[in-house]
Amino acid sequence: ASTRELLQRLIEQHRKRPGALLPLLHAVQEALAYVPVAALPLIAAGLNLSRAEVHGVASYYHFFRSEPPGRHLVQICRAEACQACGGEALLRQAEQTLACPLGQTRGDGALTLEAVYCLGLCATGPALQIDAQLHGRVTPQKLQTLAEALEL
Ligand code: FES
Repeated sequence: ASTRELLQRLIEQHRKRPGALLPLLHAVQEALAYVPVAALPLIAAGLNLSRAEVHGVASYYHFFRSEPPGRHLVQICRAEACQACGGEALLRQAEQTLACPLGQTRGDGALTLEAVYCLGLCATGPALQIDAQLHGRVTPQKLQTLAEALEL
């Protein structure tokens, strides 16, 4: 199905529900890995909301990407428990090792580096997720190994 058809289907599934906007945005990102700017007017029309409202919500939540991510998605936990056990140092190391600033996609499209707020591994921080895989107690050495495994 084309992206447009997929969007129409998701809008159709959500439009009757109260408070549909956030669940719909989640569903779109789940399906496409991002929420295309071009989807916002369709969503607004489908849910009978103003474009400004939809745009406001989509850009307020940093969780929603407006651009497609790179081939790999690296998400570093910046919530409290991980911050308390080296999360910030891990983030700095990741930016260097992966050659990608936080919140950006590398120029070659190899990866996107994002912050997340709790991955459910608080007891074994600092934590990160690479694609679908969670990793706890990420030491500098472990990050190095994980980065090498990406074969960037
Ligand atoms: Fe990092 Fe929960 S605070 S996993």
